[in-house]
Amino acid sequence: MRQRTHEGFLRHKHFRFAQIATALCVAAVGVYFFTAARMSEPPSGGSWIGYVLGTMSAGLIVWLSCLGIRKRVITAGHYSLKAWVSAHVYLGLSLIVLATLHTGFQFGWNVHTLAYGLMMLVIASGAMGIWAYATLPQRLHGNRGETTRKQMLEGIESLDRQMHDVAQPLDRAGAEIARFSIDKTELGGGFWKRLTNSYGDCANKRALARLRALPHSASAKQAEAITKLESLMQQKAEVLGLARRQMQITALLEGWLFVHIPATFALLAALTAHIVSVFAYW
Ligand code: HEM
Ligand code: HEM
Repeated sequence: MRQRTHEGFLRHKHFRFAQIATALCVAAVGVYFFTAARMSEPPSGGSWIGYVLGTMSAGLIVWLSCLGIRKRVITAGHYSLKAWVSAHVYLGLSLIVLATLHTGFQFGWNVHTLAYGLMMLVIASGAMGIWAYATLPQRLHGNRGETTRKQMLEGIESLDRQMHDVAQPLDRAGAEIARFSIDKTELGGGFWKRLTNSYGDCANKRALARLRALPHSASAKQAEAITKLESLMQQKAEVLGLARRQMQITALLEGWLFVHIPATFALLAALTAHIVSVFAYW
């Protein structure tokens, strides 16, 4: 459902905001290069066109930053949230043209370029978000197949119960390995772990390796129990893999906002410093 809403905001009112943003960029490029043609070098941030473009860009950035506040105020009227997000995406992208022209293509190791770099980071993470919303829900579905999250968890629980029963005839070393997988296996973990899907230290995986390293058992009953246990642990590894892949996709769906929002705050700070410093040196 989420995907449909997000596709909806991209196409909102037959791409009205895409058209507005494109018109804005075409006009800015036209005026900029028309002015540049009459000067010996490209107009800088300090020229009249530089001031117009800088003020427009800064205004847009402040307005785009307000989406967080707008999102939390629920209204359905004329200016729906869908329209806001649609405008956010396309006008946000138009900053690539407007702010770049404002700089007069002058970059250096200074607070001005820092503001510019942060703005590009916010825009890039926003684009990542669009990609995530557009593609990941399908993958989530494809990965799961017909299995729901609840079924996966129940599957792991059932495998644990079976492992517990199968381990009964085992000696101490074998029983301990089964208990290690049952008690110590962690499904998810912290955000970073879920995002990178790195479970090299997975208890079930380690238990499986230890089980395979056990010396051959003298009793046939024990040997049979070990074979059954190994098969159960392998099944558990497969279900764990599937569930963790699903958690990774969910983390990706949220992850880009962890860049988008903090980078927005850093951008607002650097932009303030940029504007204050250019007026201080005036
Ligand atoms: C009210 C808004 C703004 C004003 C008044 C403003 C003002 C200026 C001025 C006067 C310059 C020329 C400095 C010089 O020639 O030494 C400049 C350059 C520049 N501005 Fe802005 N600016 C604004 C918004 C922005 C925004 C939104 C960005 C990007 C996020 C930005 C990034 C830059 C960069 C990278 C330069 C080039 C710095 C350099 O020459 O090394 N400015 N700005
Ligand atoms: C400098 C430009 C931008 C700024 C300052 C900015 C800032 C923000 C802020 C503050 C939020 C609210 C986040 C929250 O509180 O949940 C947001 C959401 C969002 N932004 Fe941006 N953004 C910018 C550009 C972009 C661009 C270019 C795109 C896409 C290409 C984009 C895509 C999004 C999306 C998809 C959301 C989430 C909307 C939702 O949850 O429905 N942003 N942005």
